[in-house]
Amino acid sequence: MDMMDLTGRVAIITGGGTGIGATTARLFAEHGADVVIAGRKLERLQTTAEEIIAKSGHRALAVQTDVREDDQVQHLIDTTVSEFGKIDILINNAGGAYMFPTKDTSPERFRNSIELNLTSAYLCSHAALPHLLKSEHASIVSMSSAAGVSGVKGGAAYSAGKAGLQMFTRVIAAEWGPKGIRANAIAVGGVASEGALRSWERFGMDADSMGAEVPLRRVGWPIDIANGALFFVSDMSSWISGQTLSIDGGPRGLGGLTDDVLWPEDSE
Ligand SMILES: NC(=O)c1ccc[n+]([C@@H]2O[C@H](COP(=O)([O-])OP(=O)(O)OC[C@H]3O[C@@H](n4cnc5c(N)ncnc54)[C@H](OP(=O)(O)O)[C@@H]3O)[C@@H](O)[C@H]2O)c1
Repeated sequence: MDMMDLTGRVAIITGGGTGIGATTARLFAEHGADVVIAGRKLERLQTTAEEIIAKSGHRALAVQTDVREDDQVQHLIDTTVSEFGKIDILINNAGGAYMFPTKDTSPERFRNSIELNLTSAYLCSHAALPHLLKSEHASIVSMSSAAGVSGVKGGAAYSAGKAGLQMFTRVIAAEWGPKGIRANAIAVGGVASEGALRSWERFGMDADSMGAEVPLRRVGWPIDIANGALFFVSDMSSWISGQTLSIDGGPRGLGGLTDDVLWPEDSE
């Protein structure tokens, strides 16, 4: 039996038109799922959906959605059920980092970041719940961030939102577990998606300079995260719920001995 097989399951992936979300949608379809991808830019979603259909032979549907808006989220859920009949998997992936000194952050910007990175996961999970309750393989995965574990300066709202997402995950895992619904989160490290490459460039960084600070000496690729999401929605993790898995190339920022002392041969 292939424990990674998703044949017959229906998955919604928010932010599925680009980056980590698009790679996750592709991977799930390759493992047999029908996928619904949601985001604000319909054209990009449609291109990704067409690629998925062509490559996997499974169904893929693009639904234009702003995940901060209750009525649009409800439309996403209703459309998924009317087109594909059910919902088994929800990936709360839409999100984004807006970095500003806290002293310069307006109330509107702060609220917007929390709505995008935290409230959206509540809206999608809550609206999907009646359908997840009917599934035998119900699983929710939310894309948190390393910034929600250790914090980042300039990201008071982003880090707080992503940390909140981990606690939201824990609480719904406890509340909805008795009904067979699992919920887990991934604390994503620096991953070279379209969105991340653009924001690194603004700070004079690129994939090489970011990767140099990672114990495994490279940034992540969207597939590194998609593989984690596949594990969490598949039967491989059927007794795992309420957890946050860091996928980040290893722990950073530790004090103690430096690499020069640990690996002197590398500096010879
Ligand atoms: N890459 C990293 O280094 C990194 C690190 C930590 C956490 N993460 C998290 O991983 C997730 C995926 O990010 P990514 O790196 O793949 O970046 P990305 O390529 O920019 O993807 C973000 C996606 O979210 C969608 N989105 C943004 N605002 C939305 C809204 N209001 N409603 C619906 N969809 C919206 C975007 O599509 P539209 O613009 O079309 O709406 C886009 O497809 C995010 O939650 C991000 O915070 C990424």
